[in-house]
Amino acid sequence: MRLSLLFSLLLLAACGGSESTPAPAEPAKAEPVKAEAVKAEPVAAAEPAAPAGDAAAGEKVYSTYCMACHQADGKGMNGALAANFVDDKERMAKSDALLLKSIEDGIPGTTMISWKAQLDETQRSDALAYIRATFGK
Ligand code: HEC
Repeated sequence: MRLSLLFSLLLLAACGGSESTPAPAEPAKAEPVKAEAVKAEPVAAAEPAAPAGDAAAGEKVYSTYCMACHQADGKGMNGALAANFVDDKERMAKSDALLLKSIEDGIPGTTMISWKAQLDETQRSDALAYIRATFGK
């Protein structure tokens, strides 16, 4: 029973039948290769898609809530006080989604707290838009 099922599947595949549902499942196993290819180009992936936030509005959020640590120049005292947005390219290579998550939830074990209570979603993405536009180039 099993064998004949296998056989007919093989036949189907060999004929390039239009019912190729089983076929695409196979190449998926080759995926680790894909993952490597993605890793190989972090710079391309870093091309910042402009966040939905409003950088102009974000400037006010930044100077009120973030500047004490990240500083006006975005360098956070060369990273001693906070993330250095200017020189730490790996940091800014993170996606907006990832950075927004850090702003929302904070980074445990560091002074970067969760800003959920103080800032709503719009303010948080505005702040990130400001950071990207001002330091993240
Ligand atoms: C009390 C100091 C302090 C304040 C205030 C502060 N941060 Fe941070 N922030 C940090 C530190 C420290 C880090 C780096 C943590 C780490 O990864 O070691 C950081 C990291 C970050 C990162 C990088 C997150 C990541 O995933 O790598 C972003 C983005 C950020 N802060 C945004 C903000 C914004 C926006 C505000 C204001 C709403 C803010 N920070 C206020 C200390 C601060």
